[in-house]
Amino acid sequence: MNYEELMLRAITKAEKYKYTAKPNPVVGAIIVNGNEIISEGYHEKYGENHAEVNAIEQAYKYKGKKFQSFSELALICTLEPCSHVGKTGSCAQFIVKTGFKQVIIGAVDPNPKVAGRGIKILEDNNIKVEIGLFDALVEKQNKFFFYKHKNKKPYITVKIASSFDGMSHINKERVFITSESSRNDVQKIRARHDAILTGGNTLRNDDPKMDTRVDFAINQAKKILLTSKPYNNELDFFNNTSVDVFKINDLNEIIDSYKNSEICSILVEAGPKLVNAFLKEEMVDELIVYTSKKILGGKGVNWFDEDNAIENYGFKLESSYKIDTDLKEIFIKDE
Ligand SMILES: NC(=O)c1ccc[n+]([C@@H]2O[C@H](COP(=O)([O-])OP(=O)(O)OC[C@H]3O[C@@H](n4cnc5c(N)ncnc54)[C@H](OP(=O)(O)O)[C@@H]3O)[C@@H](O)[C@H]2O)c1
Repeated sequence: MNYEELMLRAITKAEKYKYTAKPNPVVGAIIVNGNEIISEGYHEKYGENHAEVNAIEQAYKYKGKKFQSFSELALICTLEPCSHVGKTGSCAQFIVKTGFKQVIIGAVDPNPKVAGRGIKILEDNNIKVEIGLFDALVEKQNKFFFYKHKNKKPYITVKIASSFDGMSHINKERVFITSESSRNDVQKIRARHDAILTGGNTLRNDDPKMDTRVDFAINQAKKILLTSKPYNNELDFFNNTSVDVFKINDLNEIIDSYKNSEICSILVEAGPKLVNAFLKEEMVDELIVYTSKKILGGKGVNWFDEDNAIENYGFKLESSYKIDTDLKEIFIKDE
């Protein structure tokens, strides 16, 4: 296998961990001796070993058998090895200490704590470094992570379920607008995001859990609640995860407070007040709309005050699917 094939293998296999590694990026590392793969490692779970460390630990089992010294081997990493000492040690220092002389990197880490510093550590220690092999693929794979560091803010997705006549809900009543299949689809969208944000009215009216219920392993999202009013913190919403509560209503200030955090993506699941406030502030990157055939009629509360609101806010339709009798549409900012 050549380095291109090995990098593609590392990118493909890293994908398996996208729900458990988040909010960290997924990363793969492969160690080779010429054409022979000695070991592979992946960042499998948030807070646990980075990919390079897992690959190196595996490779030690073959030292003296398949190779004599790490200087004979090449290390392929999808993302630049980290330079900082976070939850785990610095991977770049570990690679130097292990004795590698050649490292092939997919993309440079956009995190300002790393951003070239990992590469510098390697090069300063006489390691030959190649950079940029399939970097666009690595960036696409870690879309939220790259977006957050490039834009200094998390990626914001808004999800809404709408009746056929454009309604969000009936006042003070909990109604299921869309089908069970659409609601299961929402669980997968939650699984991708690092945080789920809602407003005080939704918490009080619906008593939602807003956790992610899927049949695969995930790192549960943080929850964010915006309310200036009292709330019952024994509700299910507060179970099994950390919740940030904001009493202020300045959305820019709230979202800005995540600039230096690990949160790279926020899913807004709220009613019309908060959704429209996010749209008016032009803070939404992606809007996902599920529309059912149900009619809520006169008792319903409208999502938007005007027709074509989504287009008027500057969104364009990216894709649309049918889920049972519902329609799922994804809109993105028309840059
Ligand atoms: N169909 C769907 O997809 C869907 C999804 C979620 C919810 N819902 C429905 O939506 C209903 C509630 O909708 P809603 O529009 O009344 O409330 P909402 O959007 O869920 O929450 C609004 C509340 O958020 C807080 N907030 C903080 N900053 C704000 C800002 N800048 N702008 C606006 N609100 C801000 C305020 O809480 P305080 O007043 O507490 O300070 C405000 O009352 C629920 O009954 C639920 O059934 C529907």
